[in-house]
Amino acid sequence: MRTLLRHGTVVNANGQQRADVLVDGERVAAVGAGFSESVDCVIDATGRLLLPGGVDVHTHLDMPFGDIRTADDFASGTIAAACGGTTTVVDYATQAKGGSLREALDEWMTRAAGQAVVDFGFHVCIADLRPDVEAEMASLVAEGVTSFKLFMAYPGRLMLNDDGILRVLRRAAQVGGLVCIHAEDGPAIDALVREALAAGHTAPAYHARTRPPASEAEAVGRAIALAETAEAALYVVHLSSATALEQIAAARERGLDIMAETCPQYLVLTEAAYDAEPAEAANFVMSPPLRPPADQQALWAGLERGDIQVVATDHCPFTRADKARGLDDFSRIPNGAPGIEHRMALLYDAGVAGGRLSVERFVDVAAASPARLFGLAPRKGAIAAGADADIVVFDPAGTTTISAATHHMRVDYNPYEGRTLRGAIDLVLARGEVIVSGNRYVGAPGRGRCLRRDPFGPRTA
Ligand code: URP
Ligand code: ZN
Ligand code: ZN
Repeated sequence: MRTLLRHGTVVNANGQQRADVLVDGERVAAVGAGFSESVDCVIDATGRLLLPGGVDVHTHLDMPFGDIRTADDFASGTIAAACGGTTTVVDYATQAKGGSLREALDEWMTRAAGQAVVDFGFHVCIADLRPDVEAEMASLVAEGVTSFKLFMAYPGRLMLNDDGILRVLRRAAQVGGLVCIHAEDGPAIDALVREALAAGHTAPAYHARTRPPASEAEAVGRAIALAETAEAALYVVHLSSATALEQIAAARERGLDIMAETCPQYLVLTEAAYDAEPAEAANFVMSPPLRPPADQQALWAGLERGDIQVVATDHCPFTRADKARGLDDFSRIPNGAPGIEHRMALLYDAGVAGGRLSVERFVDVAAASPARLFGLAPRKGAIAAGADADIVVFDPAGTTTISAATHHMRVDYNPYEGRTLRGAIDLVLARGEVIVSGNRYVGAPGRGRCLRRDPFGPRTA
């Protein structure tokens, strides 16, 4: 099957050009003009941007959480991703206490295989560090599972102490892995939570008050120091605050290989969401929490400067009923929010149409950099000869209105309800096949493939 996309503007992280794109089978055959090959399908992209399919490297699909699980499985979550222009996801598989990393990976693979409609991979969260687990890291990297997540929060459940973090960082540097870190000072936060509850402060707003920016900045600073000691690279996930970002910028200035990701929620929402009545405010309980407008401005500046390299979603959806479990005790509200579907649209609207990011930088943070940092380039993240033909046909003159009534995520609210955004997706191609047309998934079920990722190479951004 050959497809020709004609007369579009092809945008990559390193530039844009008016060009045609010739797709042969699953790959881009050429980008240029004057193609005379016979094709099976012509797509007129006049007035449209041709963007590389988005790469979302932070999702939690079909994730167990106590006796509940996240609301999207790999089918519904990746259909939503596809409808929003994301054609690759990297999800988090979490090690059980006493279990191995391999068991975690196998378990998550069983959930995704035959369900996901876009290509996918996994990071593995290390929650129980033992010598055999350290040894396993090398075999996972050799198989193409090249990143690991550690938690500095949630003591007793997921948190590793500094000695464990140091050991994983060293081992990752030896074997070609990249460590992703959830940087919040768990023990201090737990103390603040206990104090708040003892004082009768049970409302969702106290989730944010007990996780102040200083607790994030402390953990980011400590993680950077541990990475420096280990001579390892570090990737800070879901960065939310200005003070934490300052630590990252300073470390990068000193030449350390420290990278950061933020998420649309921290770029377009603020802590004002917690002023709503509790049943609504609970829907915005996530960790780290939403922050004041000044933090948001700092994050935009960090993205523009390049101190933040990636925008991912941390898609972690729970229904209103699940969130309501904690209405009389904020510490029982399952943490996380839906977002996999509207990452590209929100970032284009607030970033590009809002005058904060060039369209090339938008492509960089939404597709090219995540692909490169997580070992998926040159196959993903660019429209170039030889790359997978993952292409979003995007109408910059269109609009997108967000609503839980029309979204594809299996969750009964949307944090961005009622917003009308500048820009609209016409079509999404994944490995050469049109899988989304007019906000409808039209591809085959379960067509996504598990991706083997390359080891991490130092200082790539
Ligand atoms: O609140 C959040 N972010 N939940 C998802 C799990 C995590 O820490 O990334
Ligand atoms: Zn996290
Ligand atoms: Zn997460």
